[in-house]
Amino acid sequence: MHSFHYHNGSLHCEEVDLSLLANDHGSPLYVYSAATIRDHYRRLSSALCELDHHIAYAVKANSNLSILKLLAKEGAGFDIVSGGELFRVLRAGGKASDCTFAGVGKTRAEIKYALEEGIYCFNAESEAELCFIDKVAGELGEVAPVALRVNPNVDAKTHKYISTGKSENKFGVDFDDIAGIYDRASQELKNINLRGLQMHIGSQLTSVQPFVEAVEKVAPLAAQLKADHKIEFFSIGGGIGIIYEDSLASGSKDWWAGKSGEDKPLTLEQYAEAIIPSLKPLGLKIMLEPGRMITGNAGVLLSRVLYKKQGAAKVFAIVDAGMGDLIRPALYQGHHDIAPVKQSDRQPETVDVVGPICESGDFFAQDRELPKLEEGDLIALLSAGAYGFVMASNYNSRPFPAEILIDGQEASLIRKRQSFSDLISGEEL
Ligand code: LLP
Repeated sequence: MHSFHYHNGSLHCEEVDLSLLANDHGSPLYVYSAATIRDHYRRLSSALCELDHHIAYAVKANSNLSILKLLAKEGAGFDIVSGGELFRVLRAGGKASDCTFAGVGKTRAEIKYALEEGIYCFNAESEAELCFIDKVAGELGEVAPVALRVNPNVDAKTHKYISTGKSENKFGVDFDDIAGIYDRASQELKNINLRGLQMHIGSQLTSVQPFVEAVEKVAPLAAQLKADHKIEFFSIGGGIGIIYEDSLASGSKDWWAGKSGEDKPLTLEQYAEAIIPSLKPLGLKIMLEPGRMITGNAGVLLSRVLYKKQGAAKVFAIVDAGMGDLIRPALYQGHHDIAPVKQSDRQPETVDVVGPICESGDFFAQDRELPKLEEGDLIALLSAGAYGFVMASNYNSRPFPAEILIDGQEASLIRKRQSFSDLISGEEL
């Protein structure tokens, strides 16, 4: 569910008219709905109420301070992957003791920073990293809480760039090696505390089956580690997929009510129902690391049509946002629905919606049928709240867009548009 809908012929986020917002703040412009983010967080938590669970929001999906603050207020913990993300969480009012620290390549400085701040757990991804964390903790006279990330060798059936749970991926430790490493670590590494076990098989999973396969495979290992090493948690990672096609309609209850069987996208209730039977008997704290599911459908990128161009083979709508603002189509062939902010009765037209960047990969849609676009029209690229702004770059020396958070009738500027001087700050002549 989300809070983007047409009202009086104009696309709104909650109670705010997006065309007025773009007039005030310019474009390209990211807009997020606070109500949607809260709703997603609360619905996931309530679907899992049978479990002793803790949701650690994956900061990488959208790390704006105001979004982190909103989630901290809801009681979320945070899954971080860098010292920079820890810094953001702390600045936003989150607690280090609610943070898990993932990633295959943590540096000495990052480990030290996280230990000094007192994070809940490092999720280590190799035996070498585990030994290094032990060493750094020893130097500081600390004991580091750690979990190993297990690679369960399960196919997540998602895009190859965001699939992480197969043996050929760089992530985690092979399933068969885990127990031996915990045994050795408990004997030899004196500066770590084996606190849990973690896994994450991939992102944008649209069926429950890979989650079930992974949980069923790894739960017995978690039980064994609880018995042998008294671990206290099992994190099952993130990865819950969202709706990218038919995004706008999926905001309404009626759309969901009209879907059944194969047509029905993965729901949180289905997800919870499928995994709870294997997890509940463990008697462990179950942690989750959702990112996209919390913020993805809660954000749009607004952009204005600069020019129409009739090429020999195609019609192009050239807009003022580019792959530097939202790279998902270029990088993963990711689909984002495009909605005109003003409804019209214009005839459909097949167009390529492209940005101003000097790359042929700079497109948002190819051969897409949309109500005919005209110069000056404002469009919304939907489902852009996760892995949107956070992956932005200044390529072609284009300043980052501004970000707005809507809460009811209120629109807050949560990040200023970059200026040209911001672009060169830190550079020396
Ligand atoms: N936990 C770990 C260890 C992860 O690596 C990730 C995502 C998550 C949790 C959160 O996954 P989510 O619930 O958001 O699926 N940029 C790509 C997605 C990359 C995901 C990286 N890891 C995209 O735009 O599709």
